[in-house]
Amino acid sequence: MRLKRSNAIVIRLENDEFIFHNVLGQKQFSANQTALDILRRLYAWTDIEGLFEAMPDYSRESIVRAVRQLMELGAVIDEDSAAADQDDDFSTNWLWGPLTAAYHFGTRDGDFISAEDGEDLLRQQVKFVPSPPLYTLNTGSPTDVALPLREDYPEPFLTMARRRTDRIMLDEPITLKQLADCFQFSLAITAVIEDPEIVDLPLKMTPSGGGRNPYEGYVCVRNVTGLAPGVYHYSAMERTLGVVEAGAPPPFGSLLGNQVWADTAAAVIFLVANFDRPMWKYHHPAAYRVTVIEAGHIAQNISLVATAHGLVANPTAALSQDLAEKTLRVGGVTQSVVYALVLGVPAAS
Ligand SMILES: Cc1cc2nc3c(=O)[nH]c(=O)nc-3n(C[C@H](O)[C@H](O)[C@H](O)COP(=O)(O)O)c2cc1C
Repeated sequence: MRLKRSNAIVIRLENDEFIFHNVLGQKQFSANQTALDILRRLYAWTDIEGLFEAMPDYSRESIVRAVRQLMELGAVIDEDSAAADQDDDFSTNWLWGPLTAAYHFGTRDGDFISAEDGEDLLRQQVKFVPSPPLYTLNTGSPTDVALPLREDYPEPFLTMARRRTDRIMLDEPITLKQLADCFQFSLAITAVIEDPEIVDLPLKMTPSGGGRNPYEGYVCVRNVTGLAPGVYHYSAMERTLGVVEAGAPPPFGSLLGNQVWADTAAAVIFLVANFDRPMWKYHHPAAYRVTVIEAGHIAQNISLVATAHGLVANPTAALSQDLAEKTLRVGGVTQSVVYALVLGVPAAS
């Protein structure tokens, strides 16, 4: 058996300790000198005898004990394991460096608390730490310019003004046409810039950095007239829904950090980022930001379409990422669910 340290380790200092983050395994640990030396030496595949030879000042027992612990933490990997394949995949394909990796992988599947518990915590917190102001006034500025306020709201302003998050939804269907509109006005490819020397660039109604269009849309359908329950992929070029999995999807709350209010929704649209698309063009890690920003553009168009139809598209970034990705059959180093829109009929008009 040959061993190597994981390539997905980020180290920082906390007081007088080195803190290691195994960003792929989402594990954090501090390491003693033995572990630190083992990790330093295991930069290439080495068998245990090679490691003993490279570390003559340490007893074999202490090396074996530390290696075992480091393997449990995913910091040292065995060449013939699935972890080695994943590590290799990460090193080869995540091109935006360790800092974006630490954020991207390290923030998957957070521990979400209910909205009620969250409010209770805030009621406590505000007693000790007041919230920063949530808007900035121009008070005192001698050069304030009063802007004309619009009194009438012709379209599209009216729809924009009506958009609201409304988590209380009736257990009623939406129509296939309404769902189709959500996709058409957010993700459908509406034009293509031909570039025979590099690659044709698809254009959509939402902007995309460099035209790389990292997002694919998926929908979990529960209650859509004219569409069987199931999990579907939206083909932006063909404007079709491809069946990923027929049959009722998991309860929506379970896909969305246990937000049970989503359970009565008609459908949930998931926006899935394909990071390899922008990575191919942009090697700087700032392109990670560009990619997540784009989800907001797409989601806003979906929200406005839903509003125009008298529906709601409740946004949520509290995702049960592992389960959602398993359900959509996506995932891996460069593909990830980023955002979801919970579509339904609002109880209040
Ligand atoms: C990026 C993003 C993530 C959000 N995530 C959640 C969420 O996880 N759960 C939720 O109930 N609402 C979520 N919301 C909705 C906000 O709570 C909501 O937009 C806010 O309360 C303002 O209400 P409005 O949308 O009616 O203007 C999210 C909104 C945004 C923009």
